[in-house]
Amino acid sequence: MHNVLISKEIPAIAKELLSSSGLKVKTLDSGVSLTSLKREELTDVHGIISLLTDVINEDFLNKCPNLKVISNYAVGINNLDLDELKKRSILVGNTPEVLTEATAELTVALILMTNRNLFSASSSVYQGTWRGFSPLEFLGPNLFRKNVSIMGFGRIGKKVGEILNRGFQCNIQTISRGNEWDGKAKISIDYPVQFLCENDFLKTADIIVLTAPLNHETKFWLNETRLKKLKDSVTIINTGRGDLVEEANLIDFLINHQYARFGTDVMSIEPLDMGHPFLSLKNATLLPHIGSATFEARSQMAEICAQNIILGLTENRVLKGPNLN
Ligand code: NAP
Ligand code: GLV
Ligand code: GLV
Repeated sequence: MHNVLISKEIPAIAKELLSSSGLKVKTLDSGVSLTSLKREELTDVHGIISLLTDVINEDFLNKCPNLKVISNYAVGINNLDLDELKKRSILVGNTPEVLTEATAELTVALILMTNRNLFSASSSVYQGTWRGFSPLEFLGPNLFRKNVSIMGFGRIGKKVGEILNRGFQCNIQTISRGNEWDGKAKISIDYPVQFLCENDFLKTADIIVLTAPLNHETKFWLNETRLKKLKDSVTIINTGRGDLVEEANLIDFLINHQYARFGTDVMSIEPLDMGHPFLSLKNATLLPHIGSATFEARSQMAEICAQNIILGLTENRVLKGPNLN
């Protein structure tokens, strides 16, 4: 009998699939963190469904001598030490594709929320400070026909581009990484995209969208040098990971550029500390990491996670997983 541990309650389909495959499933109580479990509690565990907040590193893996497969309930895998997992021949699964539309639509919602002051405008209604229609209140830039620079032009980035180009006639641009053409098109897209050098990508952006994975190349990508190249009125949107931006430099930038805006679904440390400077910036809009939070995406993510575990334990492969080469 194989034992599977689920880090936190996820849609019920996961447990149903795992149990009907003859696996013994335990879900941790809310408030109990996976990584704080003791070796005795992990020794007999063969499969784990982890959350993006669980740091799966050498210390943790040392407590899991029988672990065969780990399935991250996320597409992002920056919480996993892949080298360590590979060394131990532990299979790794994640949940790409099924959350692409959900995260892309949330990214577009966040752009509109940030540029059209939706949070403060709506709050004024609830707080009773709304004094009726006002010609000069809550103004922000149009989204139509803006230059949108997308950093991380993968599944989610391309879908964001598609919505903004088709729906809002935005000019979509990304950084040329030199790999976009390979005789035939490597990057398949059926709307116009400009591949720019990094300098032009930064300088011409009305909106810059960060949807790259967090890795050693992208960590603190939006740093002081790059921030200096942006328009004073730029809108910076982050739905990738908090550490794609250098928070301290970004905070200075937002303080010194009152017409710039920042909308984020992700932060370096989640949940955000209530003393964090982001909370006192009028030009920052914050969401609590809800990119994939649609009924459809979250339920399909649960299904894929379960399939990854089942296949991992029965056929030594996963349904969806990162390339570990
Ligand atoms: P993906 O299809 O792998 O796309 C990532 C893209 O980033 C790829 O096109 C990749 O290019 C590019 N990239 C990687 N390193 C780069 C660099 N140094 N400079 C420029 N581009 C770089 O992944 P995805 O499914 O779109 O997901 C992207 C990320 O979004 C996830 O890793 C996760 O962190 C985040 N996410 C957040 C939420 C949320 O709730 N806010 C939800 C889902 C995902 P190459 O292919 O050329 O390497
Ligand atoms: C969410 O952030 C994910 O990576 O799936
Ligand atoms: C606004 O409500 C308008 O009619 O312009």
